[in-house]
Amino acid sequence: MARNLLDVGDLSCIDLDSILAAASRPTGEFRRVLEGKGAALVFEKPSLRTRNSTELAVVALGGHPVYMQADEVGIGVREELEDIARVLGAYHAVICARVIRHETLERMVAVLDAGGNDGENSSVPVVNLLSDLAHPCQAIADMLTVRQAFGDCGGRILAYIGDANNVFRSLMQAAAMMGMTLRCASPEGYGPRDDDVALIAGRGGELEIYSEPGDAVAGADVIYTDTWVSMGDEHEADVRRKVFAGYTVDDKMLELASRDAIVMHCLPAHRGEEITHSVLCGSKSAAWKQAANRLPATTSVLAWVTGAEGLEG
Ligand code: CP
Ligand code: NVA
Repeated sequence: MARNLLDVGDLSCIDLDSILAAASRPTGEFRRVLEGKGAALVFEKPSLRTRNSTELAVVALGGHPVYMQADEVGIGVREELEDIARVLGAYHAVICARVIRHETLERMVAVLDAGGNDGENSSVPVVNLLSDLAHPCQAIADMLTVRQAFGDCGGRILAYIGDANNVFRSLMQAAAMMGMTLRCASPEGYGPRDDDVALIAGRGGELEIYSEPGDAVAGADVIYTDTWVSMGDEHEADVRRKVFAGYTVDDKMLELASRDAIVMHCLPAHRGEEITHSVLCGSKSAAWKQAANRLPATTSVLAWVTGAEGLEG
């Protein structure tokens, strides 16, 4: 069976720690575990950071990335998903995909773990580059960023303000594994679901849920936000902008946080909605560091899924 990364729950605390440790070293120190091998990068949604960092991560490991957009592949239109996974598994050492539905990744894993169509491509790992449920590569880059800011994350307070979405879910699981104190403030109907709370509890975290953003942010070390309108939610944009009014991370909100607090955003940002320009580009913003950290984090993830030896670099 391949080592997949569909969500943070696929990692033990030891895995997460070793991925972060390897990601802290210069990317050039990684063993070229993908030398002479291909990596399929399938995107059903747009991307700036994830596409660029994943392509460069593959190259850093000696591999050759092949980027494909959903339209040209025609998942379920030109060809059945399972057939696409079988064929990509025959060419590539790893399949990385940004998908509309998380289930798409699970179906890829199922057909590859079953041995594709001839049993020869059964060890091809699948990496989630964002689904409706999860964004694990982002969460790993985020934990790298928090560690760089504070060293040991244990006991540090992370306050997430806004939509309890895919980014939130992976972030909170990873932060729970790092021993952080977890808070979330969202408008009614857009907060964590019971299964999110259970998922986070399963990683050792106890999520404190607030309705007032100021209460969640009080004394926090890390304030994190993401778009109010994720890809796929565009038809709800007008309603969401009204519902989320008052949840903008701005300078006034920042005053309530710890003095050395950092502000995080996975990007892309929407100034004047979930965050102000002043905060995003201010001295406490870690957003650009997070974006830069996507490269070492993803390099480390790819080394991990293709074999732990890659981490010895
Ligand atoms: N944060 C992130 O995943 O950015 P992209 O959508 O640009 O890849
Ligand atoms: N929650 C956002 C994250 C984009 C990186 C989305 O799914 O569109």
